[in-house]
Amino acid sequence: MYQRQIGDTKVSAIGLGGMPMSIEGRPEQSRSIATIHAALDAGITLIDTADAYHIGADEVGHNESLVASALASYGGATAEVLVATKGGHLRPGDGGWTLNGSPDYLQQACDASLRRLGVDAIGLYQFHRPDPKVPYEDSIGAIRDLLYAGKIRMAGISNADPQQIRTAQQILGNGLVSVQNQFSPAFRSSESELQLCDELGIAFLPWSPLGGIKNAAGLAGTHQPFAQVARELDATPQQVTLAWMLAKSAVVIPIPGSSRPETIRASAAAVDLQLTSEQISRLDHS
Ligand SMILES: NC(=O)c1ccc[n+]([C@@H]2O[C@H](COP(=O)([O-])OP(=O)(O)OC[C@H]3O[C@@H](n4cnc5c(N)ncnc54)[C@H](OP(=O)(O)O)[C@@H]3O)[C@@H](O)[C@H]2O)c1
Repeated sequence: MYQRQIGDTKVSAIGLGGMPMSIEGRPEQSRSIATIHAALDAGITLIDTADAYHIGADEVGHNESLVASALASYGGATAEVLVATKGGHLRPGDGGWTLNGSPDYLQQACDASLRRLGVDAIGLYQFHRPDPKVPYEDSIGAIRDLLYAGKIRMAGISNADPQQIRTAQQILGNGLVSVQNQFSPAFRSSESELQLCDELGIAFLPWSPLGGIKNAAGLAGTHQPFAQVARELDATPQQVTLAWMLAKSAVVIPIPGSSRPETIRASAAAVDLQLTSEQISRLDHS
């Protein structure tokens, strides 16, 4: 698969999002392992996870442990795989999501992620979501401390607006390599962050690129121009969506979530789809 750049590291142009394998509706572990192995077989070298991808309060880091286990049991080479995790979001076990962006908490969360991933330094550590109770500068300062301590190799932010991207870049300098925001045919309001990342040369990782776990299968019905271009190219609307994102900028690296080998194989194949400028413009204006 052709590659794109996150900081100093080349990764596949499409990554694997791990969330569907660990939150509500997740499959048996064996199917998740098969999904991660199918991604690796397809040439995917970016896996997005988070300590908060779990259900019960007693299984924090379910997805990180799953990814570590799948990498350990894979028959092929895994040295080139960048595992990107996150801290700062929590799941108390009641189905909800809470925040903690305090520096002390982020230090502890990173230590726990290091243990679960079984590495000396995390390849890419992302501050999951701004915590309104903690000044953004303080949370990002904690991420900078993790970089200085060598616990993380590269830093990213998520759910950030343009001002927060600029603030993070001032604090982290070249250590800030990625921004992960929601972006899909249904949710386009991160276009300004995408453009800023393009300008700054920072990777932009669209999350829920297919509209999210519950909506991905219905994309053809909700976004008919994507279905129409899919018919023209003998592809699926989901593949057209990923190809459309890749065409937006060389900094874009979508991370579609998957819990089945078939879907991640189909997503990986989207890198080979060529959209015409007329098709891109039609989708942009849909
Ligand atoms: N930073 C954040 O705040 C944040 C928030 C949400 C998500 N994320 C990250 O972004 C990733 C992606 O988002 P998401 O998982 O919420 O939603 P998504 O990628 O929009 O949709 C995921 C669903 O799409 C289906 N799918 C994947 N590829 C497909 C294909 N080629 N054709 C048809 N269906 C396909 C999968 O079905 P199957 O399950 O049947 O395989 C999966 O359940 C997450 O996994 C997570 O890593 C980050």
